[in-house]
Amino acid sequence: MTPIPAADSALGLLLNRRSCHSVRAPGPNDAELELILRAALRVPDFQRLRPYRFLAARDDGLDRLGRAMQRAAVAAGRSEAEIARTPRMPHRAPLVITVVASPRPNTLVPLFDQQLCAACSVLTLQLAARALGYGGLWRSGWLMYDRGFHRELGLGEDEQIVGFLYLGTPQRAEETTHEAVPDTHDVLRWI
Ligand SMILES: Cc1cc2nc3c(=O)[nH]c(=O)nc-3n(C[C@H](O)[C@H](O)[C@H](O)COP(=O)(O)O)c2cc1C
Repeated sequence: MTPIPAADSALGLLLNRRSCHSVRAPGPNDAELELILRAALRVPDFQRLRPYRFLAARDDGLDRLGRAMQRAAVAAGRSEAEIARTPRMPHRAPLVITVVASPRPNTLVPLFDQQLCAACSVLTLQLAARALGYGGLWRSGWLMYDRGFHRELGLGEDEQIVGFLYLGTPQRAEETTHEAVPDTHDVLRWI
């Protein structure tokens, strides 16, 4: 069997990647965030359209994001419990990045290709953050699809949220790596 590379190597990072459900402050600082974003700008991108953008929230921005979520919850007629819960939701991490697929008009690159490109950026942000020692969780939920919430964030009619990436310092060390590399038998068939 092929030897498993060291956890801090590039392949080790991929083989060991896992999500971190509970994170705390500190989150990435400005210099680290710059590196994380630069990594995301390296995703495969047909025609280099850069069909995505990032809405980052930390500190007071988490309050603003939570209030926007709450207004959207009220407008969407969600339950009282949910409306009460929304303002605290972004506070589950010190840094929340809302990743927006922002398609460019292009006859060669279909919308779905552009959305896939944006989705790649979410994973790349998570991996880059992990390489810097941070944990993260890619979340979705009804707000991701809610046009009222999109308007709260100033999204255009053609834009779509592809993920909320919650980033911070892992609460528990055991949440930072997988114990075993998964088996590939179920997912591989040769054509
Ligand atoms: C598009 C997308 C949306 C997701 N939405 C959520 C979510 O809302 N809540 C959640 O707990 N996990 C969500 N997940 C799954 C987590 O990000 C994570 O992958 C999962 O908990 C498995 O953990 P692992 O990444 O360590 O294997 C989502 C994943 C993807 C790709």
